[in-house]
Amino acid sequence: MLTTPRRDNLNKIVILNPKGGCGKSTLATNLAACYAQRGPTPAIMDYDPQGSSIGWLDRRPNDLPSIHGIAAYKNSMTATRSWQLRVPEDTVSLLIDSPASVNHNDLRELTRDSTSILVPVLPSSMDIHAASRCIADLLLVAKVDRRDRKLAVVANRTRKNTKSFGKLMRFLDSLGIPIIAVLRDSQNFVHAAEQGFGLCDMQPSRVKQDVEQMQRIVEWLDAWPDRRRDASAVKGLNRKPATRRPILRRAQFGSA
Ligand SMILES: Nc1ncnc2c1ncn2[C@@H]1O[C@H](COP(=O)(O)OP(=O)(O)OP(=O)(O)O)[C@@H](O)[C@H]1O
Ligand SMILES: [Mg+2]
Repeated sequence: MLTTPRRDNLNKIVILNPKGGCGKSTLATNLAACYAQRGPTPAIMDYDPQGSSIGWLDRRPNDLPSIHGIAAYKNSMTATRSWQLRVPEDTVSLLIDSPASVNHNDLRELTRDSTSILVPVLPSSMDIHAASRCIADLLLVAKVDRRDRKLAVVANRTRKNTKSFGKLMRFLDSLGIPIIAVLRDSQNFVHAAEQGFGLCDMQPSRVKQDVEQMQRIVEWLDAWPDRRRDASAVKGLNRKPATRRPILRRAQFGSA
């Protein structure tokens, strides 16, 4: 069973999608680099036994803005779990990089108290299908309430104007889940990953287009207090059993 830290003022951003290689670590590390540049020092908590985010942090040059790394996939014999997962007091942004396979209990635990949940999706039929299952689990198993507006999709490695891209957009639109950014398939991400950089640490002229998309994600993430306030107001108005939009049933995803 995974455990995650709780703290009221913590912007806990969970990045998940059980589909391997969809860009979870890419998103987690690049967002951490954005927050590091802005300060205060963010933390990245890596639950994936492959340790991709922690490996990236190890490669990160010392002269770049620092990021606190927590290797949550390791089980310490000498420290308590909560000590191992402690987040520095002055950290306000926590990026959670999740593993490719997450059981239902872990899904609930990972997303509990999250301020935002990002699902990176690649535009292939298989990936779209996997993402639809992931979103169904978030809504039905982890009980993420759509009124909280904490769930968003990042379309990754897209080539615009392809059939699969259009299919992905239509599918997400039908779920009412926002696509907050579209990241292109670019070697910039690969080079950044190799060197322990975020795109925002690279030469601006080379990465302008990609950094703009990362910035859109950060802006959406930064709005979490407003989203939370709006959601409480909506829930306050709907004290009576709400006539909610029908919750998605698994069967609906079959034809995605
Ligand atoms: N937009 C992109 N353009 C080009 N390459 C990308 C892009 N996003 C991710 N990649 C590359 O795709 C590979 C997989 O990405 P990443 O490791 O972030 O996926 P993941 O979801 O964390 O995978 P896993 O499930 O194995 O943890 C990496 O080599 C990464 O550099
Ligand atoms: Mg990963």
